[in-house]
Amino acid sequence: MQEVQKYLKDNSKRFLEELLDLLRIPSISADPAYKKDVHKTAKFIANNLKKAGADNVEVCETKGYPIVYADKIIDKNLPTVLVYGHYDVQPPDPLDLWNSPPFEPVIKKTKTHPKGAIYARGSCDDKGQAFMHVKAFEGMWKTGNLPCNIKFMIEGEEEVGSVNLGTFCRKNKKRLACDVVMISDTSIISNKVPSITTGLRGLSYLEVEVTGANRDLHSGVYGGAVANPINVLSKMIASLHDKNGHITIPGFYNDVEKVSKKERVEMNKAPFSLNNYKKDLKIKDIHGEKGYTTLERTSIRPTLDVNGIWGGYIGEGAKTVLPSKAFAKISMRLVPNQAPDKITKLFSDHFKKIAPDSVKVKVMPHHGGEPAVTPTNTVEYKAAHLAMKKTFKKDPIPQRSGGSIPIVSMFEKVLGVKSVLMGFGLNSDAIHSPNEHYGLFNFYKGIETIPYFFQYYSELKK
Ligand code: BES
Ligand code: MN
Ligand code: MN
Repeated sequence: MQEVQKYLKDNSKRFLEELLDLLRIPSISADPAYKKDVHKTAKFIANNLKKAGADNVEVCETKGYPIVYADKIIDKNLPTVLVYGHYDVQPPDPLDLWNSPPFEPVIKKTKTHPKGAIYARGSCDDKGQAFMHVKAFEGMWKTGNLPCNIKFMIEGEEEVGSVNLGTFCRKNKKRLACDVVMISDTSIISNKVPSITTGLRGLSYLEVEVTGANRDLHSGVYGGAVANPINVLSKMIASLHDKNGHITIPGFYNDVEKVSKKERVEMNKAPFSLNNYKKDLKIKDIHGEKGYTTLERTSIRPTLDVNGIWGGYIGEGAKTVLPSKAFAKISMRLVPNQAPDKITKLFSDHFKKIAPDSVKVKVMPHHGGEPAVTPTNTVEYKAAHLAMKKTFKKDPIPQRSGGSIPIVSMFEKVLGVKSVLMGFGLNSDAIHSPNEHYGLFNFYKGIETIPYFFQYYSELKK
């Protein structure tokens, strides 16, 4: 292990340079204008895996963006770890809120990251984190210290719902056969308090369209006599929460997993400062479902949020218009036992029911995703625990996350394996937001920790 760690230290400068090059390619999967760049990123990852020593490196085409596969099988009798990550990133908008261009990475020191952080879209989610695995593998392989088999599957459509990954997994069940999936695409509590993610929320995402009159109207001639779809939509959306912050869709909570008092007490022991939380977000007060703490609201409770709303005139100056249409994108984060399809249907039925006769309503479902929980009594969890304990010199805390990685439940169904979620980001790293960054401490701590995971995992598996 000392040899591995020495190799990783000796090559740390190059690792960073390589990551910066990777971050310079704008692999925005949601925007077709970046198609070439997304493909270029897949090739970059594949080449880097090759140079690291991986075999069977392949850029596997799909109906959408390619999946990069690679492996190193040293002994069929040894356990196999499948590393999953994604090389696509979220759109960087709004661009004017970035302090430096999103695809020209710069390193800046901050209070949270006194050793410096890399500012670039995808630095934390997930190029920086996926790349740690490539480099940790390089270190283990080049020094002759790879303790078990390893497979890589790095996809390019995670941020748009992993639409082709399920088919790929079903078609390649044999090639992807493994004992556990390892994913670094989540956060730790802080750089002093490591944690392992033990749960993810699911997702149901829809778009709604409300139509009033057959055309835009003069708001003086018709206003007050014909429904304004923006007014109506706003009212409908407002009615989806009651005064206690509960969601009002009938049946919405029916399947929600009951978390025991004991578990709730336990999860609230995790270090969390409401004051710092508010300070960081520059808010006077928090907001949410009555009867639950912030930690609970962002992990074990489902939510409903409008992600975008538009319609009518939004150009320069004023135009007096009674718009014909209004739109909104609405998402619901789901918790264990809530089925995305069922929730989508409940929403759709309810939304149509509450619409007044003065408007027509269309509901169009987008991608969804199942929630996931990962057990803590497994060999892989223990290995991740020991690895983090070794490098952070502190016991990591199990913690459920509010985010979603829908493929975790898919891996369980299709490949029949559990995942271990050992991420190294911070919630304050601004993923999906302007000025996304990833701490150098976190990047290098990840690279240092991963080989220990492999070592403990293969030892405990014996
Ligand atoms: N890496 C995130 C998920 C995440 C972030 C989990 C932080 C835990 C902590 C992932 O890339 C992501 O953004 N997922 C989407 C869902 C997907 C279907 C678009 C999400 O959570 O919004
Ligand atoms: Mn991610
Ligand atoms: Mn993401």
